[in-house]
Amino acid sequence: MASACIVKMKFVSVLLVFSYFATANGRKITTVLNPDCDVPECTAGYKNGSYANIAHIKAVGSEDTLHYVISTIGVPSVLVIRSDPTSSLNFNWTNLLSDNATERSGSITLNGKALKNSFAVVFTELIEYNDVDDKATIASYFHGDTKSTNYTIHDFGEMMWSQVVTAPGNKNSAVFNYTIFKNDSNVEKPEASLSFTFNAYDNTGRQSVLPKMEYNMNNTLLDLLLNNLTVLYEKSRFSVGVVMIGTSQDKPDITETRSLDDEYTPGVFKMFDWSTKPSSKEDGGYLEWKPICYTSSSRNRLSGTYVNSDDRTDGMHQKHYLERSVAYSYFGDKLFSTEVVTSGTNMSFGLTQDGFYVKKNYTVWSATIGHGAPPQDAISILVIGVISAGLGLPVVIILFGGIFVIVKKHMAKKDQVMRNFSNSYSQINS
Ligand SMILES: *[C@@H]1O[C@H](CO)[C@@H](O)[C@H](O)[C@H]1NC(C)=O
Ligand SMILES: *[C@@H]1O[C@H](CO)[C@@H](O)[C@H](O)[C@H]1NC(C)=O
Ligand SMILES: *[C@@H]1O[C@H](CO)[C@@H](O)[C@H](O)[C@H]1NC(C)=O
Ligand SMILES: *[C@@H]1O[C@H](CO)[C@@H](O)[C@H](O)[C@H]1NC(C)=O
Ligand SMILES: *[C@@H]1O[C@H](CO)[C@@H](O)[C@H](O)[C@H]1NC(C)=O
Ligand SMILES: *[C@@H]1O[C@H](CO)[C@@H](O)[C@H](O)[C@H]1NC(C)=O
Ligand SMILES: *[C@@H]1O[C@H](CO)[C@@H](O)[C@H](O)[C@H]1NC(C)=O
Ligand SMILES: *[C@@H]1O[C@H](CO)[C@@H](O)[C@H](O)[C@H]1NC(C)=O
Ligand SMILES: *[C@@H]1O[C@H](CO)[C@@H](O)[C@H](O)[C@H]1NC(C)=O
Ligand SMILES: *[C@@H]1O[C@H](CO)[C@@H](O)[C@H](O)[C@H]1NC(C)=O
Repeated sequence: MASACIVKMKFVSVLLVFSYFATANGRKITTVLNPDCDVPECTAGYKNGSYANIAHIKAVGSEDTLHYVISTIGVPSVLVIRSDPTSSLNFNWTNLLSDNATERSGSITLNGKALKNSFAVVFTELIEYNDVDDKATIASYFHGDTKSTNYTIHDFGEMMWSQVVTAPGNKNSAVFNYTIFKNDSNVEKPEASLSFTFNAYDNTGRQSVLPKMEYNMNNTLLDLLLNNLTVLYEKSRFSVGVVMIGTSQDKPDITETRSLDDEYTPGVFKMFDWSTKPSSKEDGGYLEWKPICYTSSSRNRLSGTYVNSDDRTDGMHQKHYLERSVAYSYFGDKLFSTEVVTSGTNMSFGLTQDGFYVKKNYTVWSATIGHGAPPQDAISILVIGVISAGLGLPVVIILFGGIFVIVKKHMAKKDQVMRNFSNSYSQINS
């Protein structure tokens, strides 16, 4: 009886310790797809078959809660609201889906205290361009020339989004999929797709596939897949416009970190992070990626190709897209005030002489979006071991060689002194 009681007490205290650590050092993550939805657009779809989708991933910690509002309403966007631990969000779907910007503004509201440095990442447009000169960067084709027929802007708002679902094996995830069907003799079959997949975790780890981006409880992992899209040009490449929206007074900026170590991503020695607060990254939000995407689902080293991020713009050419995003549903007109700083770029997929998109008709790119200091690839113990093994032998030889030379010199000196001494001694004696 008594021992059973002790066992029980021990069990309870273990549980208490466990839950203490869970709240003190961790985050509890939950996901709700289409929260508060009371309109048919998210349950049965629009009349044209597309769905209105929101995934609300909530990461509750002891100091703050991160609310990720991920949506394809308007344009694909990730809004990250940082607030007090007990806060919650309200979604007014009627207003969210309104064509009237005034009604959309404020359709997502926070119950609780907003903390500093909420931010958003908005995927504004998919650009397909004819890379006639094989430059693999979209910047070569615009030159302020709006009449060029060498590129086409695909509006994400005109894509037919399937209903958001979780990814297999992770309940804290969301897949936004645009499937292009082919109507073949009255039977529709999926032929191509474009999808944004998000995965959140309550621990630190790495993607099981390349480029093995590091995830942790403060970020979500994104995979953007362009699968079997039908191209408009012979030398088509794709590029996606991205606008970073920061609420610190810093200007969001992209920093490049170089590493000696390509252990996690063979062949890649660079990492980029686009922080909303470059002067103090631990307080800001970020989008982090490596300059590599893959042209096959096996994501091996051979299928890797480059991701080029163009020079920064202020993102204001994309104002009409931003106004359609869930970032606007939360921030409203504040989005275009001095309280908010935006920055834009295009991520272009591909590398000169890689055979363009049609070579494989497949591109997948990974990134993380999160709060705080972006993870860095530290040189691992294994690599330190390998380096020291490589450096070790010569170092030992140099070290011992040096000691040997010093000792020998010292001995020679001593010999000389002895000799001199004995010489003089013998001289005295003689
Ligand atoms: C959404 O907002 C409208 C207008 O502001 C209001 O009439 C309606 O009751 C709200 N819906 C919900 C579910 O709160
Ligand atoms: C948009 O909605 C606001 C508030 O409901 C209303 O005052 C305004 O007239 C509407 N604008 C348009 C163009 O319908
Ligand atoms: C497309 O780009 C090529 C190479 O720069 C150029 O020769 C051609 O005139 C461009 N076409 C149009 C319609 O701009
Ligand atoms: C489907 O209808 C909605 C609402 O009218 C519209 O916003 C969206 O662009 C349409 N999608 C397509 C693929 O036509
Ligand atoms: C998107 O939809 C297509 C067709 O239904 C499917 O084959 C594909 O696996 C889906 N993509 C993802 C990432 O779920
Ligand atoms: C396929 O196309 C035919 C002819 O255009 C049309 O009658 C039929 O409804 C379509 N089927 C589907 C499943 O969309
Ligand atoms: C890719 O698209 C082509 C036509 O553009 C089609 O014939 C083929 O079946 C598609 N492949 C897959 C895997 O869906
Ligand atoms: C995550 O964020 C919390 C609070 O903002 C911080 O205390 C913690 O160190 C961060 N953890 C990681 C792995 O970045
Ligand atoms: C993408 O590049 C084009 C051409 O340089 C530019 O007009 C556009 O603003 C860029 N997009 C973003 C989000 O910066
Ligand atoms: C990619 O798709 C194009 C048609 O859009 C086709 O001509 C080409 O053969 C495809 N490439 C592969 C590797 O399947």
